[in-house]
Amino acid sequence: MLLARHQHRHAQGQLRWLDLMAGCGIRSLRWGLEALQERPERVELWVNDGDPDRLPCLNSNLSDLPRPARVSCQAAEVLLGQAYLDGRFFDLIDLDAFGAPGALIQPALQALRFEGLLLLASTDGRSPTGHDRAGAIRSLGAAARVHPASWELALRHQLGLVARQAWMLGRGIQPLLCFSEGRTFRVSVRMRRHLQPGEEHRLGLLARCEACGSQVVQILKNLTGWPSCCCPSGAGRWSVSGPLWIGPLQDLQTLAALRGDPWLQQPGAISNRTKRLLERLEADPGSPATVWATDELARRLGGGGPPPLSQLVTAARQAGFQAYPSGVMAGQLRTDADLTVLLRLCADLRSEGT
Ligand SMILES: C[S@@+](CC[C@H](N)C(=O)[O-])C[C@H]1O[C@@H](n2cnc3c(N)ncnc32)[C@H](O)[C@@H]1O
Ligand SMILES: [Zn+2]
Repeated sequence: MLLARHQHRHAQGQLRWLDLMAGCGIRSLRWGLEALQERPERVELWVNDGDPDRLPCLNSNLSDLPRPARVSCQAAEVLLGQAYLDGRFFDLIDLDAFGAPGALIQPALQALRFEGLLLLASTDGRSPTGHDRAGAIRSLGAAARVHPASWELALRHQLGLVARQAWMLGRGIQPLLCFSEGRTFRVSVRMRRHLQPGEEHRLGLLARCEACGSQVVQILKNLTGWPSCCCPSGAGRWSVSGPLWIGPLQDLQTLAALRGDPWLQQPGAISNRTKRLLERLEADPGSPATVWATDELARRLGGGGPPPLSQLVTAARQAGFQAYPSGVMAGQLRTDADLTVLLRLCADLRSEGT
C-alpha cells in the first residue's frame, strides 16, 4: 500500500493498477481508500480473483471506492494474456498467489509498463529454504540448501527467478523492498526497460560449509572452483544454493521516500510493527549477501552467549568491513568479513566484556 501511494504521489498522468488475485479485495480497498486519498480519478483499478464465488464479496467490499473498480473473476493467465494482446499495460501488479507464483512471473512482467512495480508474494517456504530440494529444482530451477538465514535465501531465490524471467524479455529489475515473517515471502521490484550495466553479476551462488559454518559467494558468470573452508582437516563440504540474487534486497532511497510520506505522521496511519519493519529495512541495504546468525557464531566459539549485535556491527566496521544488522531476520549480521575474522571479533568482544 505504501509503494502504491508512493507511485501515485510521484507519477505524472494516469495509472493502471492490477490486484490479480484479490481474495476478498482488502488490498484494493486499501489502495482505493488509503493510497488514493487524493485524486483517485487518476488510477484505473483492476481487481480480479479466479474464483467466481468471490465476486459478490468483491463487489460489495469495493462498492464505496471513490472511482469504481473493474472487478473480474478470470484465471490470472487469461487476464494477463488478454492484457498483453490488447496492449493494456499496468503500472503496478500485485501477484499474491497461494504457493509458488513462478509460472505467472513472465506473463505479469509482459503486462507491466516499463518502470512499473511487481509486488510478488510466495507462500512456498519449503522449496526455497532447502526443505524440499526437488521442489526447488521444479519451481525455481535452482539448488536450495538449508541455511540459518533461511528467509533471506528464500527472498533471494524469488528475486533470482524474477531477474531471469525479466532478463529473458530484455528487461532489468531493481528490488525495492523485500521481507518475510517466515510464512510469506514478499518481494517488490521495479521492472526496468533495460538491464543496468553489470546487472548479470547479481546472479550467483552462495556456499556454506555445514561443518565449520564458512560462507562464500560467487558471481555465476565468473564461477570458478570453491576455496577451502575453515575446517581444520580441510574435510568440509560446501552446500551450494543458487542461482539466486546476490545483489541488494532493498532500495534505500525508496524506503526513505516511503518513510517521508507526510501521511505516515498521522496517528494510526500504519502500525508500530510496520514502522519498525521499515526502520529495520532502511538500516540494511540487503547487501552483501552473506549473513551470519550471532548465536551460531557464539556456539562455534564455545561457552557463553552471542555478543550484542550492535557491538559486533561496530567492531566489524572498525575493522574495515561492511556490516549491518540484518533487516530480514533478527539476531543476524550482514557482513563481508569471513568466519575467521568474525570469530576473532566475537572473542575480542567477550574478553572486553569480562
Ligand atoms: C493468497 S489469496 C489472495 C489474498 C489477497 N490478495 C489478500 O490480500 O487478502 C490467493 C487468491 O488467488 C486466487 N487464485 C488462485 N489461483 C488463481 C488463478 N490462476 N487466477 C486467478 N486467481 C487465482 C484464489 O481464489 C485466492 O483468492
Ligand atoms: Zn568447513
